[in-house]
Amino acid sequence: MPRRAAGSTIDGRGSTQSQTLSIGVLDYAYSYEDPTMSLKVDSGSALIIRGIFSKDLKGAAQFKSGAARWSAGGWKIFAIALPILILIPLAIISSSGVSHVSVLAAVRSSAVAAFIAFIAPFTASSALAFSPSALTRYVRGRRRYFGIVFAFAMLVHLVCVAWLFQVNPSQPVNLPMFTMGAVGYLFVAALFATSFDRTTDWLGPQSWRRLHLIGAWYIWGYFVLIMLRAFHSAPLVYGPLLSLACGEAVLRCARRIRLQTHTIRLGG
Ligand code: HEM
Repeated sequence: MPRRAAGSTIDGRGSTQSQTLSIGVLDYAYSYEDPTMSLKVDSGSALIIRGIFSKDLKGAAQFKSGAARWSAGGWKIFAIALPILILIPLAIISSSGVSHVSVLAAVRSSAVAAFIAFIAPFTASSALAFSPSALTRYVRGRRRYFGIVFAFAMLVHLVCVAWLFQVNPSQPVNLPMFTMGAVGYLFVAALFATSFDRTTDWLGPQSWRRLHLIGAWYIWGYFVLIMLRAFHSAPLVYGPLLSLACGEAVLRCARRIRLQTHTIRLGG
């Protein structure tokens, strides 16, 4: 694989023309996820020089997250995903008529669809770090679109839940689960709201990173909890999904550990 710095002009003050740097097998995009990551050098045993530009980043605030910004063609992701997310529950309900059973099935299917939609934004950076390919680069470069698709999937879940309570107002509500789910929706809303250039810049890299880190892990944790509770009712569905959730967590943690292990912090 050729060694190259793809489209990057680093002038030593931290200002770059583009934010993606590819060196050998390593491919990193400057991002709010790793706001202090400035340069990664593949010298056989990956050496990461980090923090060189951190002072500039604080002041400049114009540190653009190129890979996570709007990119051409991303609308196609919406065009494919949004109708599918709406059609799945609608097809379930229309196939057997509106009833408590069919709407409950729609609620469950919308939740499963939301979990699947969650995979791409949650693991995009880790997948790229461990397996650089056209696919992982595509997903990482359009992570923002996948995140918005996930937010939309959660909206579909909420609409289905509201429909369920309309069809069966005596649907039992588990208060702690309800509260945790509501907090999950607050995170979904916050992540969605800070997925636009203006709000991202307004929040700043450190806060953006903290919010997205906590929010993403909270949502992941809630998915795991609720799928564990539902496991006995459909092990063939929730078994593989829970394994997938574990795989996502392992991937993210492995990337974090690798970054920390190979990081040399240079004084600011
Ligand atoms: C981040 C927030 C949320 C996530 C990740 C989530 C996820 C899920 C998942 C994975 C399921 C399928 C589990 C199953 O088959 O039972 C589910 C079902 C369900 N969810 Fe949510 N949910 C969230 C918020 C909420 C909220 C706020 C409500 C409001 C009451 C809610 C109501 C329901 C209901 C009624 C079901 C069907 C439960 C059943 O199977 O009996 N969810 N949700």
